[in-house]
Amino acid sequence: MEYHVIVLAAGQGKRMKAGKNKQFIQLQNEALIVHTLRNFVQDDWCKSIYIVISQEDQVEMKALLKNYPWFDQISFVPGGKERQDSGYQGIKAIKADMPDEVVMIHDGARPFIEQYHLHQLAVKAKEAKAALLAVQVTDTIKRRRADRIETLDRATLWAAQTPQAFHYTVIKKAHELAKEQQFTGTDDASLVEEYMPYLPVEIVEGSYQNVKLTTPEDILRAEMILNKRGDV
Ligand code: CTP
Ligand code: MG
Repeated sequence: MEYHVIVLAAGQGKRMKAGKNKQFIQLQNEALIVHTLRNFVQDDWCKSIYIVISQEDQVEMKALLKNYPWFDQISFVPGGKERQDSGYQGIKAIKADMPDEVVMIHDGARPFIEQYHLHQLAVKAKEAKAALLAVQVTDTIKRRRADRIETLDRATLWAAQTPQAFHYTVIKKAHELAKEQQFTGTDDASLVEEYMPYLPVEIVEGSYQNVKLTTPEDILRAEMILNKRGDV
């Protein structure tokens, strides 16, 4: 099996309050984005890697990644204003030969993906055209409406993660329609849900370790996961 991946790194990392894009934060002496990219560089199934970055980070990012022997395997794509715009930029940059080639879209800020999950996701996306990694919600979730609250059935609730994976033509079409109709989804799968309701997006159960580093508290957690994995 083969797949392409788009790694989104064109945000500003405002909530991280690091004074720079969080992709550059050091985790055990290596930038966050390097940990993330290495998962794909080391995966034989990964055919091409596109990193989406903002204009202002372009020079620093290239200078950083030049230090690694796999620099030439990475294609650089300029980002957009919102995450969804950056995803669309990445999709437009992909050179797919076949309509059913699998394209994964992944947050640069999620460094802890396991290879077996990437493979399960790739296989599922090839077969179902759209799939994402998700974990079952562990909290009890309440919905508040007007003057009353209700408790949702936890067994039906999943927390979406990335990567999310699709046939090339499916995700391209979904993004084109979203752009045309100015629809903003909270992730890429939601665009397929919106525009291709006849195409059920499949869930591949992932890991609770596949966290997105969003706030300063997440750094401590990340260090702990890295220590446990012992892969540096
Ligand atoms: N992202 C992107 N382009 C944007 C916004 C976000 O490529 N215009 C990327 C981020 O770099 C990140 C991922 O999407 O890897 C998930 O977004 P988030 O965690 O919100 O990161 P930031 O937008 O950078 O952080 P913040 O919202 O706190 O500013
Ligand atoms: Mg953001």
